[in-house]
Amino acid sequence: MNLGKKVVYQIYPKSFYDSNNDGLGDIRGIIEKIDYLAKLNIDFIWFNPFFVSPQYDNGYDIADYRKIDPKFGTMEDFEELSAKLKEHNIGIMLDMVFNHCSTEHEWFKKALAGDPKYQAYFYLRDPKPDGSLPNNWQSKFGGPAWAKFGDTGKYYLHLYAPQQADLDWHNPDVRQEAFDIVNFWRSKGVSGFRFDVLNVIGKDTVLVDSTDPVEEKKLYTDTPVVQEYIKELNANSFGQDAESITVGEMSSTTIENSIKYSNPDEHELSMVFSFHHLKVDYDNGEKWSLVPFDFKKLKQIMFDWQSGMDKGNGWQALFWNNHDQPWALNRFGDPVHYREKSAEMLATTTHLLRGTPYIYMGEELGMVDPSYKSMDNYVDIEAINAYDELVKTHTPEEAFKIVHSKARDNSRTPMHWDDSEYAGFSQSKPWLIPTDQDEINAEKELASGEIFDYYQKLIKLRKSEDVISDGHFSPLLEDDDQVFAYLRTLNDEKLAVFNNFYGKETEIDVPADLQASGHVLISNYGRQLDSLPAKLTLKPYESLAFKF
Ligand code: GLC
Repeated sequence: MNLGKKVVYQIYPKSFYDSNNDGLGDIRGIIEKIDYLAKLNIDFIWFNPFFVSPQYDNGYDIADYRKIDPKFGTMEDFEELSAKLKEHNIGIMLDMVFNHCSTEHEWFKKALAGDPKYQAYFYLRDPKPDGSLPNNWQSKFGGPAWAKFGDTGKYYLHLYAPQQADLDWHNPDVRQEAFDIVNFWRSKGVSGFRFDVLNVIGKDTVLVDSTDPVEEKKLYTDTPVVQEYIKELNANSFGQDAESITVGEMSSTTIENSIKYSNPDEHELSMVFSFHHLKVDYDNGEKWSLVPFDFKKLKQIMFDWQSGMDKGNGWQALFWNNHDQPWALNRFGDPVHYREKSAEMLATTTHLLRGTPYIYMGEELGMVDPSYKSMDNYVDIEAINAYDELVKTHTPEEAFKIVHSKARDNSRTPMHWDDSEYAGFSQSKPWLIPTDQDEINAEKELASGEIFDYYQKLIKLRKSEDVISDGHFSPLLEDDDQVFAYLRTLNDEKLAVFNNFYGKETEIDVPADLQASGHVLISNYGRQLDSLPAKLTLKPYESLAFKF
């Protein structure tokens, strides 16, 4: 499979389309919207988990990996969805959450009931001799990473919410469970898998105290054994299928490790998600802060990753948005003055890079963060915990402002289908309330907008232009503090891409070897040129891709 020719679309099932009007999206709703999806000419759809779950972390706390949660539909609905997508050559990518399971999973329940086989599935530890927690690790959602294991006197590890108990991958039975689950879905025709926070499965057997938060992550992230476990998973499940496509969500990873995870010679995964480029609007690494994004840093990180992965023959998932991020348009674009142009510029930047692009539902409409006015609108455990922490050191107004700009719920609001009260998502009050649907919605976008159309063009180009799908990467204009430019090359083909990240015009000096004739592949200002001049003026948020 040529991964460079593929484009993945991400659907957050809870928020895509509600067919039975209970306020929650469902699988039948997705079936009803297949024609819309097919218009984009995407190859795979990654679905966030719709398995049985008590939903403490919106489905990332799985209680039964082989069953569809009745809130979302039935196995028959899933099979129908899969068959209908297949008619449009769209494959399914399922979200496999194997670092942890729900504390309502039967494994955990059996463990709690005293079954030693299942107790060995989890990290159960005694308190320290002084009665304090087994170690000082913090949960990624705030608070300690340990919770009481019933009345046994022991504690279990949870790197995420207390309702998400970490599975001990050192136990071969746990690994076998993972293989079996992947194979269960393969037997249903699924060939795509996204593995949730996969690089934290290799915790040590001795869980020592950390000295600081940075060192703490290193104690359980990207440990060498992770590579071994992924190789095993590959050999025992999806690796047996030449058409499989896999992506590992890698938290705080490195280029070096990501090359190993995704270089085909290693027989691990097709590609990786890394997140460093989305931390450039964190103040000193702190997500819950408000600072403008650091453009130079963004560029440097993306250049380093593109060059490094190219050199090491690794493969990247290219993306700005997902269900864990506020909208990129609010962070790196200008949703007020240049919503369309900046949405297209951001899309151009990632879609013409080396890797496989991912589009998060609504991105093709130019979606923006909801204009919520109070904490009552948020449901995410992470946002609520963060607010509670922030108000200890900030005024409630400041704390709210930070949550408002950083919450994961920002991108989890219902898809805007039209401008009606609930955005055409449902007839009933949705689990998260949509806002601004009179301005941004699919009906309007398809009738008179330009962003959807622009995405269609970018996807088409990736399929027709080998320099985009297969070309090498090199940075251009590295010192420019406004323009993100790069060169893609394949044999004697060259593609130069220029993206103005700001709402003001700028003039660039085109490198001498690129002052040559060719044609514009795509431009968000409809620009025509038959050669690149020595000096090029880019309009606000202009993108220009020029092929030689
Ligand atoms: C991943 C998911 C996120 C979830 C976390 C714990 O980061 O994308 O939504 O909360 O893992 O499973």
